[in-house]
Amino acid sequence: MKSRKPLVAGNWKMNGDIVTNEHLFTALRSALERASISQVDVVICPPFPYLGQAGAWLGDTGIAWGAQNVAAAANGALTGEVSVSMLADLGCGWAIVGHSERRTLLGETDEVVARKASMCVAGGLGVIACVGETLDEREADATEAVLARQVEALVPALQGADPARAVVAYEPVWAIGTGRTASPEMAQQAHAFIRARMAHAGVAGADAIRIVYGGSVKAANAMSLFSMPDVDGGLIGGASLVADEFLNICRAAAVA
Ligand code: PGA
Repeated sequence: MKSRKPLVAGNWKMNGDIVTNEHLFTALRSALERASISQVDVVICPPFPYLGQAGAWLGDTGIAWGAQNVAAAANGALTGEVSVSMLADLGCGWAIVGHSERRTLLGETDEVVARKASMCVAGGLGVIACVGETLDEREADATEAVLARQVEALVPALQGADPARAVVAYEPVWAIGTGRTASPEMAQQAHAFIRARMAHAGVAGADAIRIVYGGSVKAANAMSLFSMPDVDGGLIGGASLVADEFLNICRAAAVA
């Protein structure tokens, strides 16, 4: 049994509509209640417009809900952005920052991601900060250099964070939505490296901060990944849109 409570977060990405979401919320609610997996922190991250719907369906359950992104600045003149205080106002508990789709397709830099993470910590919002190398970087043997750079940028945010409310997600870019998963050993190696970097940089909660794996996690491979000593759960994309799959991933986290 690990000392860190596992966390499984569903990243719905830009998917869903009111009716489909309602089916998924209903299924998750009853299934997770039946399974009573209180030994796992479960977080559902739908797109912004459906956060209120998530709150309405999940607010009275043990399932938390979160946003997929947040502004790097406080309230003010920043058209189209959503702040930490707005999310907190809504009752939202978490935000994902630095997802590789945002880093690659929307040009988010380490600095922007770090600012977003710091805003979450300062505003009392749990943060799931994503890091991970591309295929080119892995093939060029640059995985550790990339992870070190991305983690270092997050250090000021992590230093001030409650370890129970700060999560690092290791998501190798080549494994996201590709059906290609890192082997448990590869994931463990990256997670141990990330933890060591945090400790080396003076993050007091380095041992308590959860490091979750993301990238083509399914019910079928969840157990082998989550059994690794430094893999504390998962950030789940595609499989989080299928209630049974997601539930079985949560179950795997509970017993791994
Ligand atoms: P995937 O996505 O599970 O569909 O690979 C994971 C993620 O992008 O968070």
